[in-house]
Amino acid sequence: MKARLRAVAPYSGFQVGAALLAKSGKIYSGANVESASYGLTCCAERIALFKALTEGEKEFEAMAIVAPMAKGAMPCGACRQLLAEYASEVSVFIADSRQPSAIREFTVKELLPGAFQLAPARRNKSC
Ligand code: THU
Repeated sequence: MKARLRAVAPYSGFQVGAALLAKSGKIYSGANVESASYGLTCCAERIALFKALTEGEKEFEAMAIVAPMAKGAMPCGACRQLLAEYASEVSVFIADSRQPSAIREFTVKELLPGAFQLAPARRNKSC
């Protein structure tokens, strides 16, 4: 809910907040950042995930997402793909920021069954 207030959403006015709990115990927040070139916009979920990954986190427990929408906003396909790749074990909690006590919970598998994966040989184990 706090992260949402830091959204940079001058085009849509739609403020989304995300918080990602890493196994280290740290929580990484994110909010959506929009561009005049609309396609460059980055969702709150990805900002939180990218912050955590670039701080060295590798394992995650939960993600919360709030937006002012009935039942909350479901993550877009791009965010689902990245969650499937880097945070596949998280429980995803979704709520309407105007009614945050009504929370829905999903697994990443439920959100993106059959996620695209490169063959393991293409993944650099040291990265
Ligand atoms: N948005 C998110 O940040 N997360 C979502 O799950 C759905 C959409 C943002 C992107 C854009 O800035 C605004 O919401 C309207 O689509």
